[in-house]
Amino acid sequence: MSILKELLLLSPSALLALFIFFYLARCKRKHPNLPPGSRGFPLLGETFAYLKPHSATTIGKFMELHINRYGKIYRSNLFGEPTIVSADAGLNRFILLNEGRLFECSYPKSIGGILGKWSMLVLVGEMHQSMRMISLNFLSSARLRAVLLPEVERQTLMVMASWKEGVAFSAQEEVKKFTFNLMAKNIMSLEPGEPETEKLRREYITFMKGVVSAPLNLPGTSYWKALKSRSSILGVIERKMEERSQRMIEIGEEREREDDLMGWALKQSALSKEQIMDLLLSLLFAGHETSSMALALTIFFLESCPKAVQELQEEHDNILKMMRERGEHGLSWDDYKLMDFTQCVINETLRLGNVVRFVHRKAIRHVRYKGYDIPCGWKVLPVFAAVHLDEELYTEPHQFNPWRWKENSSGMPAMSNFMAYGGGPRLCAGTELAKLEMAVFLHHLVLKFRWELEEPDCAFAFPFLDFPKGLPIKIQAIT
Ligand code: HEM
Ligand SMILES: *[C@@H]1O[C@H](CO)[C@@H](O)[C@H](O)[C@H]1NC(C)=O
Ligand SMILES: *[C@@H]1O[C@H](CO)[C@@H](O)[C@H](O)[C@H]1NC(C)=O
Repeated sequence: MSILKELLLLSPSALLALFIFFYLARCKRKHPNLPPGSRGFPLLGETFAYLKPHSATTIGKFMELHINRYGKIYRSNLFGEPTIVSADAGLNRFILLNEGRLFECSYPKSIGGILGKWSMLVLVGEMHQSMRMISLNFLSSARLRAVLLPEVERQTLMVMASWKEGVAFSAQEEVKKFTFNLMAKNIMSLEPGEPETEKLRREYITFMKGVVSAPLNLPGTSYWKALKSRSSILGVIERKMEERSQRMIEIGEEREREDDLMGWALKQSALSKEQIMDLLLSLLFAGHETSSMALALTIFFLESCPKAVQELQEEHDNILKMMRERGEHGLSWDDYKLMDFTQCVINETLRLGNVVRFVHRKAIRHVRYKGYDIPCGWKVLPVFAAVHLDEELYTEPHQFNPWRWKENSSGMPAMSNFMAYGGGPRLCAGTELAKLEMAVFLHHLVLKFRWELEEPDCAFAFPFLDFPKGLPIKIQAIT
């Protein structure tokens, strides 16, 4: 009662002040404290400026100018939507860790159109969770040790066996062949070199270009071509699936011996045929474009860092000696675990080269962070590359310096800022396989060959990474 009495006793001017206070508070909610930024042109916004190709070891002019002008968190208009761009390590982590609660994966339409609506990259919620479980089981540490390690080594040796001394070839092409063959084998038991595998690999090149293009479905556009590739890739997958199902009926499920993802998906899940096809297609994609670019970057960075090559050679020479003493021929899991400096090289390659430069998210609630408002429904782009190249976090960030990852090295980077594989509930499902592929490949590369660039080349972010000349190298066998 007393509150009411006091209100009645308030003077008119106090009432007015109260009214203004509440009015302003309401306005403040209506006009939240958005991060600074600009909108650019109508519709297109600043998309083209944002996507302008730049050297992979830089953040590009657009990011640089915007961060200088507005700070590490700014707003823009990208991909046709109001967007918050974040080069802030804390906010990036906050976004990834709050997947499903405050933010949600939200890729542009073109990606869903090409990878398929059941692709793991675009799914959210329960369906994403169940697809993720299948992939994680498939890439479990038991399978990594028993099945994938020997297979990775076999495929490495197969690719390297075709290299000729003194004849220039595209290193990018070779590592793509390696990672593609590996995934095709593990996903659906396709053997390298078979015509079907080669056809599929060529289709994937067209396919890849469409993933990042504008979703314009007109004859001749990259998107149109990619959709055609998608259906011919699906055609191959479907044919293989039918053969497999048929065989499983003929000989019985238990006797079916092929230990690949296709067999798994057919046997143990309640997924529809369409869902399995999208799962296989998108894993083939996620598993080969990324790790092949990571390998191409390693070859590129090491070529201009002989000291690191030497340290790698010492590490792998020791491993080889121990293998010989034990009379073994293939790498074991224990050998792999000894590749400490190799892991430093891998991390440094991903930090400096940034294979996945940013991911797409949207706010599904109104979010406040460091005094800024992020309105519900807005797109949010956590840009990992900008954190990895931030001079406040890494000393001389543009230098390839694998030693910075060594335990107790001065200026040892905080691991929480390193997000090459994303993080939170959508952390890359292939992290361990990717590291294994790179380590085993490097083992044989540094022990068998010396290499140099045939002509200058440099990785560009389009924003997908590419060496415009294909990273032409010449090798010399180490005797
Ligand atoms: C160096 C190589 C690789 C890098 C840098 C990389 C990076 C990433 C990143 C940043 C994401 C998160 C995307 C997002 O949050 O929107 C991701 C997701 C994923 N990656 Fe990788 N990746 C690599 C290799 C691989 C390999 C070899 C495989 C498969 C065998 C793989 C399978 C996946 C899958 C299935 C997802 C989706 C996970 C989910 O949504 O739950 N990746 N990767
Ligand atoms: C490399 O980065 C991963 C995080 O992806 C981390 O767990 C690992 O300890 C790092 N390795 C080295 C040698 O710093
Ligand atoms: C790193 O430093 C810690 C304490 O400062 C020490 O306990 C550890 O043994 C060191 N590790 C290496 C590899 O030198």
